[in-house]
Amino acid sequence: MTGQLSIGSLRLTSNLLLAPLAGYTTLPFRLCMREIGGFGLAATELIHARSFLEQQRKALDLAQTTSDDHPLAVQLFGAVAEEIRDAAQLAQERGAAVVDLNMGCPVEKVVSRGAGAAMLQDPRKAGALVQMIVRAVTIPVTVKTRLGWDGSRLDAVELAPILEDAGAAALAIHGRTREGQFGGSVDIAGIRAVVQSVTAMPVIGNGDVRDVRSARRMFDDTGCTGVMIGRGALANPWVFREIRAGLDGAALPPAPTLLERVAFMTRHFLRVVELRGEHIACLQFRKMIDWYAKAFGPCTALKRGIRQLGSAAQFHDLVGAFLAERGRLEEMTAQEIALAS
Ligand SMILES: Cc1cc2nc3c(=O)[nH]c(=O)nc-3n(C[C@H](O)[C@H](O)[C@H](O)COP(=O)(O)O)c2cc1C
Repeated sequence: MTGQLSIGSLRLTSNLLLAPLAGYTTLPFRLCMREIGGFGLAATELIHARSFLEQQRKALDLAQTTSDDHPLAVQLFGAVAEEIRDAAQLAQERGAAVVDLNMGCPVEKVVSRGAGAAMLQDPRKAGALVQMIVRAVTIPVTVKTRLGWDGSRLDAVELAPILEDAGAAALAIHGRTREGQFGGSVDIAGIRAVVQSVTAMPVIGNGDVRDVRSARRMFDDTGCTGVMIGRGALANPWVFREIRAGLDGAALPPAPTLLERVAFMTRHFLRVVELRGEHIACLQFRKMIDWYAKAFGPCTALKRGIRQLGSAAQFHDLVGAFLAERGRLEEMTAQEIALAS
């Protein structure tokens, strides 16, 4: 297979990466995604460095991993350099393959404290932070950011060479500014300018990659070394396999059937129940369903039901009713489908 990518000493089997998505790329989701494969690295959701150091339950849950969940980047955010450094060491001790620093989160609560995308405003300080962390750990240190703070300039073009000098092993760049949030289209020329601003550090292009065509455009038009995909994987967990085949010039694998999609969702749900309990699983799936539903075709009753999900039994009933309505496998329960797949 082509498309390998090295991040410092770490050799990835694919130059396609699963993006961190807070609330979505949880351990259960990552494990389900890894069964399909096609990506070289996954990341945790963003983890607050101080909460992680204080071993707060929520931070520990976010950082939880297993031997099947490898290689994994632990993504940290914070405003205090020493806390991020110590949290990076803790992440390394707990088996992280990479520590990734979030310099792109646009959320007001985060940037108002000088964390996330606020770091775009002070490239020297961001460089000093990276240098401090690179010296404190032996695993590769990477950064994920956006093109800039607002539309007026591409701060990342100034930031990228500073991060490279500081020892960052790779830079993932979402082709929007903080101000741009998730609106408009991705600025491909902006990502290309970041790629051209560095000497050898791999730059990973990110934003709106959904299929072979958009992945090829990201590689070809920016010159990036890797591509990171977030929402495209929520909408289609098979996206990496499809893009890999397309980039390698191989025949595209057959599109997953409705039953395979439902089985994936059910495995995901059962894993959350197993790891976090029924209540959390229901809460998570109330928002997750909109992503799965995109590929299910007409499914109003399923969507409506899962948006108010109250128990695992109800999940299985809703899925069973949905499949029955589609005239498929009336007698199979969702649990049996998950076991059979
Ligand atoms: C719901 C949601 C949660 C996100 N959480 C994170 C996060 O925890 N850390 C991070 O660096 N980026 C986060 N992002 C940004 C994504 O990683 C990615 O940069 C962005 O969605 C663009 O890529 P995409 O079009 O492939 O989704 C998040 C985005 C969304 C939509």
